[in-house]
Amino acid sequence: MKSFAKTVVSKLSEKQAAAELERLAHEISGHDKAYYQNDAPEISDAEYDQLRKRNNDIEKRFPSLVRPDSPNLRVGAAPVDKFEKVKHRRPMLSLDNAFDDEDIVEFCNRIRRFLNLSEDAAVVVTAEPKIDGLSASLRYEGGKFVQGATRGDGEIGEDITQNLRTIRDIPLVLKSPKVPDVVEVRGEVYMSHRDFERLNARQARDNQPVFANPRNAAAGSLRQLDARITAQRPLRFFAYAWGEMSEQPADTQMGTLKQFAKWGFSVNELTVQCKSVDEILSTYSLIESKRAELGYDIDGVVYKINNLEWQERLGFVSRSPRWAIAHKFPAEKAQTVLKDIEIQVGRTGTLTPVARLSPVTVGGVVVSNATLHNEDEIDRKDIRIGDTVVVQRAGDVIPQVVSVVLEKRKPKSKKYVFPDHCPVCGSKAVRSINPKTGVPDAARRCTGAMTCPAQSVERLKHFVSRNAFDIEGLGAKQIVRFHDEGIIGEPADIFTLEERNGMDFEPLQEREGWGETSVSNLFAAIDERRTISMERFVFALGIRHIGDTIASLLARTYGTFDNLYSSLLQARDENSPARSELVSIDGIGEVVALSMVEFFSEEHNTSAVDRLLKQVVVEAAELPQSDSPVAGKTVVFTGTLEKMTRSEAKAKAESLGAKVSGSVSSKTDYVVAGPGAGSKLKKAQELNVSVLTEDEWMTLTK
Ligand code: IVH
Repeated sequence: MKSFAKTVVSKLSEKQAAAELERLAHEISGHDKAYYQNDAPEISDAEYDQLRKRNNDIEKRFPSLVRPDSPNLRVGAAPVDKFEKVKHRRPMLSLDNAFDDEDIVEFCNRIRRFLNLSEDAAVVVTAEPKIDGLSASLRYEGGKFVQGATRGDGEIGEDITQNLRTIRDIPLVLKSPKVPDVVEVRGEVYMSHRDFERLNARQARDNQPVFANPRNAAAGSLRQLDARITAQRPLRFFAYAWGEMSEQPADTQMGTLKQFAKWGFSVNELTVQCKSVDEILSTYSLIESKRAELGYDIDGVVYKINNLEWQERLGFVSRSPRWAIAHKFPAEKAQTVLKDIEIQVGRTGTLTPVARLSPVTVGGVVVSNATLHNEDEIDRKDIRIGDTVVVQRAGDVIPQVVSVVLEKRKPKSKKYVFPDHCPVCGSKAVRSINPKTGVPDAARRCTGAMTCPAQSVERLKHFVSRNAFDIEGLGAKQIVRFHDEGIIGEPADIFTLEERNGMDFEPLQEREGWGETSVSNLFAAIDERRTISMERFVFALGIRHIGDTIASLLARTYGTFDNLYSSLLQARDENSPARSELVSIDGIGEVVALSMVEFFSEEHNTSAVDRLLKQVVVEAAELPQSDSPVAGKTVVFTGTLEKMTRSEAKAKAESLGAKVSGSVSSKTDYVVAGPGAGSKLKKAQELNVSVLTEDEWMTLTK
């Protein structure tokens, strides 16, 4: 094609201008790549600016010719008030962690067991650095970047398209030849050490706050409501995973990453394949040895099963895939003085000791608090106030006190005595004895229950937390204030805040820090949550042992909150069918069942739930893949399965919306019986439950 690089802008014809814009887009993006990805600029900054200026001038003269991959689309759009929510079409998962070689051996064995492979079958994985940044999902339609989102809670993230557009490592248009209609590339946004230093120097010069580490700097830069600020921050991106894909470009992890690179993404160059545990461990050592010279932060190595069909079969548990694991680098350590031990009271009354430390930098972050776990831990390590202690911090986990430096202990130090009363309400704090084992619980608990303000405020904080009601503008800080002032005492009070505003208490809009707009935004955000999914609702109740995984299992099993509620009321009777149904749910043990029943046996709990139900509507649970013939059905597997392992069968059934139970009852829809089936098969026949062979089951769930 003829070049018009020398023609002055005012003389360009429309056709020539289009050709010039195309050339400039490619040339500028090539220079961006040289600069940002390879750290090897090929032209001077002034020459680069010339290219940018020429591009701008042409775009100004021919606005209709602005390309979807125009370099200008990286300068940042106008600020927004808040980020819109984006529902991920496929959840954004996180990773399970491995800390030592044993964990890796177990990972490979678990995969062999799950897929029923022989002990010596090769398990091929990819190994790549675990980048210490923030994950993001990028959606392309027809090859064009249309939406970018943060991970959020894994289900719903925030729309940060405009911010992501400014990152030069992220292609705005995917390079052909073959690009599927829908492509969602996921990866990590991060900042290099050099860029981080430069940014902090600039911040300091401009009297702006400096960032503690590159990860915080990347996070702070990416979540700017004004994308023009993001555009000035040197962010980068590595692609390592994907979400929805209308077509899979390869049948392996490695092949897919290679395709990503061809489409124009940066894929970490240390990514390799490993065929054995030995190869995995030597790759780990190799990457660890390069850690210091990489120029960006990594905190471990991630292994992923290379075969995508296996990935599919392995599926995921809770929020992590079974087919991947993060092998973390050892935690960083430092010494400091333990100034005090503070006791915090959690939502279920647990007294948790927290170390107040002289601030110390551990792995680039200033630490002044650390967890001491519990009473026995303090006792075992003989940790005393005034001691010099070793503190460690690994990735995003809470820092911990590892040990005491005895040589530095003061001669007059005294053994720490753990309080036996709640520091907040003064009630007795006790350690209950596990009835089965006779061993005392690790935790000492305040017996004040509803009367303990610490517990009620923690319950409320939990109620509004991210995986629960997640009310915008009503976070932990506001909850504490409203609780202390007696405005919100229990969850239902949140939903009557508006009608009580200015009646029971001074109008919010007249308080310091609140204006008309923020108050009406708060009420709108509360109203938005008057309809809530069942799993969030169950999780929000803050029942001991009921995390988000169990909450969602309960939602899928019982379908509606009414159903769960009435079953739990019946389950108070130990011999009721409702009780046996509850404990027969695969994934719910005695402890969880008992905790649920106990909660619903307390009148003050049920009345608080009833008051809340007057304010909110709990949606029926969404059953996954409701078009499957087994959706909503209860299945029991018994005998030996030959085509798949028990875990695989269970995971598959659940992914199709079936409930897997461990015992046969009149509520069972199918019993899948393999060779050697005994009492369960007999019971099924007695109760007239359909019995399927493994093959029949496979056909049904195809
Ligand atoms: S894969 C389906 N690969 O680590 C698995 N994650 O602890 C999705 N991360 O949320 C993650 N480097 O933010 C994967 N090479 C890598 C990674 C990586 C960093 C982050 C990511 C994820 C977190 C999980």
